[in-house]
Amino acid sequence: MAHLGTAAMKTTISVIKADVGSCPGHAVVHPDLIKTAEEALKKCDLLIDFVVTNCGDDLELIMTHTHGVDSEKIHQLAWGIFESAAERAKQLKLYGAGQDLLKDAFSGNIRGMGPGIAEIEFTERKAEPVVVFLMDKTEPGAFNLPIYRIFADPFNTAGLIIDPSFHQGFRFEVWDIKESKKVFMSCPEDMYDLLALIGAKSRYVIKRIYPKEGGKLPADESVAAISTEKLSLIAGEYVGKDDPVAVVRAQSGLPALGEVLEPFAFPHLVSGWMRGSHNGPIMPVGQKDARCTRFDGPPRVVGLGFQCSNGKLIGPVDLFDDPAFNKARKTAQEIADYMRHHGPFEPHRLPQEDMEYTTLPKVLKKFKDKFVSIT
Ligand code: F6R
Ligand code: MG
Ligand code: MG
Repeated sequence: MAHLGTAAMKTTISVIKADVGSCPGHAVVHPDLIKTAEEALKKCDLLIDFVVTNCGDDLELIMTHTHGVDSEKIHQLAWGIFESAAERAKQLKLYGAGQDLLKDAFSGNIRGMGPGIAEIEFTERKAEPVVVFLMDKTEPGAFNLPIYRIFADPFNTAGLIIDPSFHQGFRFEVWDIKESKKVFMSCPEDMYDLLALIGAKSRYVIKRIYPKEGGKLPADESVAAISTEKLSLIAGEYVGKDDPVAVVRAQSGLPALGEVLEPFAFPHLVSGWMRGSHNGPIMPVGQKDARCTRFDGPPRVVGLGFQCSNGKLIGPVDLFDDPAFNKARKTAQEIADYMRHHGPFEPHRLPQEDMEYTTLPKVLKKFKDKFVSIT
């Protein structure tokens, strides 16, 4: 097997993001914040390579190194950068300056402190294609549908049927983000049970994907990871949507690049959009178009493609900046119109328990004495 006998150093890709201020309102990260992050990362000697970018109002740090996932050093580095960027945001009086930095001091791991994290550590193959997905104005469960389709749906991924190197399918690590529990399920054998959970996307979210034993790739090295932090659960009250990120490896024993991108040709409905309280279509866009304007949306997804070469990030290629996704964008606009016509009615507005803003308790209090029995 290709991976046996190779004592090569493993590479880690850490994508860590936070909304630390934007301009105007919740639209886009100011260039000064990107510059602040780039300058800090250039000075530091912990990384092999990095790319700093934004998806809407989220500042995105894409970093490669050899410190593994959950590295205190890497998390501390990211936290320090977000603090400096938030400082700059405060000087410029940007909107929501520092909003995702929920704790005052770093204490070993950035998880649960506000920023979102997706990390994978792996043995690089002869050639290592990687896609980093960045979403704005939605929640981690927005990745459930596309990740399921990439790694389990034969109508999306032809290789599940016709490529012997992954015909056996993949293992899914699913988190219950309300109860802080996780479960492993395998496809195709657990497919219906998996769908029973991940269809409830505000609670059960796909965290990682693993190859199965006996395949071309090591079964203990994840091939995809998604950020699953939920700011509202961390903070106990609304502090902004989670705006998730994901890292997905491709080709040679894994879904091809085109199979990884194919689910985004369908702009599925996700929760988020205006005030984190509305359902709407997710629009695949080039990075420059990740700018949530209409009704603070509609939600966006950006796909950045790289070849990872001994930790160096060759790229990015802005994968949705392509006429092949024009139709998806047009469909998303039509769905946006259709959904907007519902105004404050569900299913455009989220059900009560999933809304990030609500006046209901106050309304009920105001009319408390006016309610009379129906019978
Ligand atoms: C959604 C989002 C925005 C804000 C909205 C109100 O994730 O960030 O839609 O919720 O612009 O923002 P505030 O309450 O800051 O005026
Ligand atoms: Mg914001
Ligand atoms: Mg955002």
